[in-house]
Amino acid sequence: MKQKIALLGFGTVGQGICEILLNKKEYLKEKYNYEFEFVAVADFAFGSVYNPNGLNIPAMLEEAKAKKKFTRDLTTLDNVSLITKCNADVVCELTYTDLDTGGPAIEHCKAALESKKHIVTSNKGPAALRYPEMKALADKKGVKFMIEGTVVAGTPIINLVEGPLAGCEISKIRGILNGTTNYMLSEMEKGMGYDEVLKVAQDLGYAEANPAGDVEGYDARGKVTILANIVMGASMKINEVPCRGITKITSEDIQKAKDTNARWKLIGTVENKDGEITGSVSPEMIDLSHPLAGVMGATNALTFTTDLLGDVTIVGPGAGRIETGFSILTDLLQIHNSSCNCK
Ligand SMILES: NC(=O)c1ccc[n+]([C@@H]2O[C@H](COP(=O)([O-])OP(=O)(O)OC[C@H]3O[C@@H](n4cnc5c(N)ncnc54)[C@H](OP(=O)(O)O)[C@@H]3O)[C@@H](O)[C@H]2O)c1
Repeated sequence: MKQKIALLGFGTVGQGICEILLNKKEYLKEKYNYEFEFVAVADFAFGSVYNPNGLNIPAMLEEAKAKKKFTRDLTTLDNVSLITKCNADVVCELTYTDLDTGGPAIEHCKAALESKKHIVTSNKGPAALRYPEMKALADKKGVKFMIEGTVVAGTPIINLVEGPLAGCEISKIRGILNGTTNYMLSEMEKGMGYDEVLKVAQDLGYAEANPAGDVEGYDARGKVTILANIVMGASMKINEVPCRGITKITSEDIQKAKDTNARWKLIGTVENKDGEITGSVSPEMIDLSHPLAGVMGATNALTFTTDLLGDVTIVGPGAGRIETGFSILTDLLQIHNSSCNCK
C-alpha cells in the first residue's frame, strides 16, 4: 500500500524530502517495499494543492525552483481543513519554527493527530513547547508523533536513543547543538573578531538577519528542552532552561583557551542527577582531548554518557536540504515499517 503524504511547508526541507523520495523511489521499493504518493501540499509562497490520487511533484519542484506559484490541483481549503479532509496517512509539518508560541505548527500537528494522521516534523516549536500533549494525543489516536529532524537534522539522535541505545540508561547529554555558532567560534580561532565573523556567517546564509536565535543560544535551548523531555522523560519548560549565547566571547577569551590547550564551544547540556533533571546552554572551554573539541565549522555533535557503554559521541550535519530531508525519510520509513494505521 502506498504511504500517502501531505506536506505543510514546501521550502528547503519540503523540497528536500521530495527530491530524496523521487531519486530513491526504486531503491526504497526494492529494499523496504516502500511506496509513496504526495497528495497535498500547503505553502504560503506557492499555494495549496490537493489531489487524492497523487500530485505531480516533479512539476511542482520545477515551479518552486522558478519561484512560480503552483498551477495544478489548486485548493481553497485552509491548512487545518486540508489536513483534516485530505486522505494522507502522514502529515509532514515543515513550516517555520516559532519557539515563543509554537506558531501555526501546533494547530497543524493537532489537526493531523486528531484526524488519525501521523506527524513527521523537523519543526522544533511543537516538540520543544508541547511534546507531552502531542505525544499523548498521538497515543490516544493510535498514530505517531515523529521528530527526528528537530535535533541535529538527519544525524540520528532521537532514533539512536530509542533504537540502538535502548536499554542503556543515559545520565548526561552534552553537545554542540547549533552549527552557526560553532562555525563562528571556529572562525574566531583563525583570528576574526565577533562582529566580523557574524557578518561572514550572515553572508554565507548560516545566520539570519536577526541572529539572536543562534548567537543568544535560543535554538540550542529548544533542542535541550526536546532532549530533556524525550530522552530523560522530564517535563521541562523551555524558559526554565538557563541560557547564555556566544555574544560576549572576545578574541582575548579565544586566546586564553588556546593558551590552556582548550577551545570554546557553545554547549547544550541535559543531566539526570539522582532523578533531578536539569538543562542549560552556555559557552564552555573544552579540553582539546575531548571528542567535542575536534568538531569544527557548522558541524554538530552530541556525547551521551551511558551506564553500559560509557561515553558515546555522534558527529554529523545539523542542517541542510538533503541532510534534514533525510530526517523526514527516516521517520516516514519507521512509520511504514511499523505499518500501524497506514491506509
Ligand atoms: N533547513 C534546515 O536545515 C533545517 C534543519 C533543522 C530543522 N529545520 C526546521 O524545519 C522547518 C522547515 O525548514 P525550512 O528550512 O524548509 O524552512 P523554509 O525554507 O523557510 O520553508 C518553510 C516554508 O513554509 C512556508 N510556510 C510558513 N508558514 C506557513 C504556513 N502557516 N502554512 C503554509 N506554509 C507556510 C514558507 O513560506 P514563506 O517563505 O512564504 O513564509 C516556506 O515556503 C523549520 O521549522 C526549520 O526550523 C530546518
